[in-house]
Amino acid sequence: MHTGTTLTQFIIEEQRHIAGATGEFTGLLNDVVVAIKTISNAVNKGALIGVMGALDSENIQGETQKKLDVITNEMMIRNNEWAGHLAGMASEEMDEVYPIPTKYPLGKYLMVFDPLDGSSNVDINISVGTIFSILRAQVPNRAASEADFLQPGVKQVCAGYALYGSSTMLVLTTGHGVNGFTLDRDIGEFILSHPDMKIPADTKEFAINASNQRFWEAPVQRYVAECLEGSTGPRGRDFNMRWVASMVAEVHRILTRGGIFMYPRDTKDPGKAGKLRLLYEANPMSFIVEQAGGVSSTGYERIMDMTPESLHQRVPVILGSKNEVEVVLGYHKS
Ligand code: AHG
Ligand code: MN
Ligand code: MN
Repeated sequence: MHTGTTLTQFIIEEQRHIAGATGEFTGLLNDVVVAIKTISNAVNKGALIGVMGALDSENIQGETQKKLDVITNEMMIRNNEWAGHLAGMASEEMDEVYPIPTKYPLGKYLMVFDPLDGSSNVDINISVGTIFSILRAQVPNRAASEADFLQPGVKQVCAGYALYGSSTMLVLTTGHGVNGFTLDRDIGEFILSHPDMKIPADTKEFAINASNQRFWEAPVQRYVAECLEGSTGPRGRDFNMRWVASMVAEVHRILTRGGIFMYPRDTKDPGKAGKLRLLYEANPMSFIVEQAGGVSSTGYERIMDMTPESLHQRVPVILGSKNEVEVVLGYHKS
């Protein structure tokens, strides 16, 4: 018999403190949780159910789609379109806003998501995840257009990610701290396992894809060079380095033991400000990181203050342990 707090119980108890809460948000989150359990099952069964490998198609960003990119996108849509909580959805894997089919009622929330983050890792059995962000519809119960989604990250009502790792976890914020839940497969419930997660302010661990080094700007070049100099350099201590190539896994590591993660602005493709996408990667992760006491910036400005210009806009990301991110931001100023 389990004795822990289930995610549903946790959300209902949290909603009780909010005047005027109707239970609609709790309903929406329950649907997201069902989608995540479904995705977790598919990722876990992998080759047994024929979901590995790539398709011939590309998404709007020109990336080859994995079978699971498309399957997990479908799972998010099917589980969240019917209940009447949403006025629209948008995803990494869909060029345009997904309109709620007219046979279903419309609701007062919008959801944006990356159904499978780190999908280059899926065929090699390394952790992947799902990222989601919930916004208020500008006009409730009216079909949302792209413009309705272009809200700065500070307007998010909720952000979360699922990590399909050695265990499946769901990490969530509604603006009152960050809580982590672990899926107990025997009872099919997420149980509160990591209450009030906090990012240590200091760290000796950095994460960056060093194969892009020649394209980085001067402040990031300086920061990484100084980390590599270790205890004999200006930082006066040895650093460790990690790169999983799944942002969800990197952010989860940082939430657990601290660290700094960078996918900075670079000159690799002058048409792109960075690699990660503002609405469904950078904003939700920034909300979680800030709620856990960390910092998240482009190097030049707070990510959550940016007004998005388009659904699939890219943005440089530097996030993690407060004191370490501030060192990098200081280099951007000078
Ligand atoms: P996605 O699989 O949703 O396209 O996202 C992958 C992202 C992010 O999770 C990760 O940090 C980064 O891309 C990895 O990029 P590199 O392949 O350049 O290392
Ligand atoms: Mn992603
Ligand atoms: Mn993805």
